[in-house]
Amino acid sequence: MHSLITGTDWVPIKVHPKLFRLTCKLSAVILLSSDAARDDRWLEFEDEYINNALSYITALKSWPKFLRPLVYRHVKGYDILQQQWATGQNIIKKFLDQKKAQGWEPLQKPPSFFDYVSSQNKNLPVDDHVSMQITMFIAGVHTSAATATNALYDAAVDWDQMREIQKEVRETYRSCSGNFTRQGLNQMVKLDSFLKEVSRFSSPDLTTFARKSSSSITLSNGFRVPNGAKLEVATGAIYRDEQLYKDPLSFKALRFYEMRQGENAQTKHQWTSVSRRDLDWGYGRHACPGRYMADITVKLIMIELFLHYEFKSLPGQGRHPNIEFDGQVCSDP
Ligand code: HEM
Repeated sequence: MHSLITGTDWVPIKVHPKLFRLTCKLSAVILLSSDAARDDRWLEFEDEYINNALSYITALKSWPKFLRPLVYRHVKGYDILQQQWATGQNIIKKFLDQKKAQGWEPLQKPPSFFDYVSSQNKNLPVDDHVSMQITMFIAGVHTSAATATNALYDAAVDWDQMREIQKEVRETYRSCSGNFTRQGLNQMVKLDSFLKEVSRFSSPDLTTFARKSSSSITLSNGFRVPNGAKLEVATGAIYRDEQLYKDPLSFKALRFYEMRQGENAQTKHQWTSVSRRDLDWGYGRHACPGRYMADITVKLIMIELFLHYEFKSLPGQGRHPNIEFDGQVCSDP
C-alpha cells in the first residue's frame, strides 16, 4: 500500500506490523502501564506471545483430541512459549513490587486494568496477572489491530470516500485542540460509520455468539436444542444478506451514518451497538465487554493517521485480500 505524508511524496508501507505494534502500545497503557508501553521487552512479549500461541494452537490442533494431553509439551513452539512466559512474569513482578512499595496506590492516572486488579487482590499470584494480561491481549489486541488494518485497506481502495471522514476528524481535532474525550470521539459519527462498515465487510469472526448447551432446552418457538449442541450465528453471511443491507457487496463508508439519519435512529447503528442486527461483538450477556476499549483504541489510531496521511493501494492491486481460517478472517499476510 502507498501512504502520502501530508506535503511530501507517496511512500510504500507494510500496514499490519506497524498497526499491530501501535495497538500493542495503546493496549499496554490501558491494561498494564505507560511504562510497559515504552518497554520493548513487554511489547515483544505481547506481540510474539500471541503469534507464537496461535501457531502453537494450530500445530496442537493437528493432533487428534485424545492425544493432545500427551503430546502438548513436544509440539513445536511449546519451549519458546515457556521462555516468553518467564519474561512476562519478570516484568509483571517488577510492577507488583513497585505497587507494594507505594502502598498499592495506582501506578498511573487514570489507573490501568492491572492497577484495579492488583489493588483489589493484593495476594494474586504473578502467574494469574500474566494470564489475565495475555487473555486480554488475545481477546483484544489481534481483533483491534485486524480492524485497524482492514480499515486502512478499505480506505486505500477509494480515498475519495474517505475525504468526508478525514474532514470530520480534522474539524473535531481543531474544536477540542487535540484533547479527545469520550464525548469528542462520539461526535465523529462518520468515522464511527466507516469502522462499522469495515467490521461488516471483514468481520474478524465469520460466526459469533458461539455457545454450547449444557442441557436440553425448547425455545418459545418450539425449536429444540439438545444437550451438548453447539450453536453459532452466521454473522459473516448475515452481513452480506441483501434483504438486510442494500447493495451488501459494496463498501460504503457512510452506510451507517445515513441509516442514523432516519427517525429515532440517531443512537442506533453505532459501531459498539449490540443487537440482533449488530452482531460483530457477539450477542447477549456475553457480548464483548472490551468493545468500548476497542472503540477508543482503533479510533485514536485512525484519527492520528487521518490527520497526517492519505492512503492508496499499490497500482493495479485493488483491495488487499483477506483469508478465512477456522471461522476467522484476517488479511492475507
Ligand atoms: C475489534 C475488536 C474486538 C472484536 C471484534 C471483539 C469481538 C468479540 C466477540 C465476537 C466476542 C464473543 C461474544 C459472544 O460470545 O457473544 C468477544 C468476547 C470477549 N471479548 Fe472481545 N472483541 C474485540 C476487542 C476486545 C477487547 C479490546 C477486549 C479486552 C481487552 C475484549 C475482551 C473480550 C472478552 C473478555 C470476551 C469474553 C466475554 C464473555 O464471554 O463474557 N475484546 N469479543
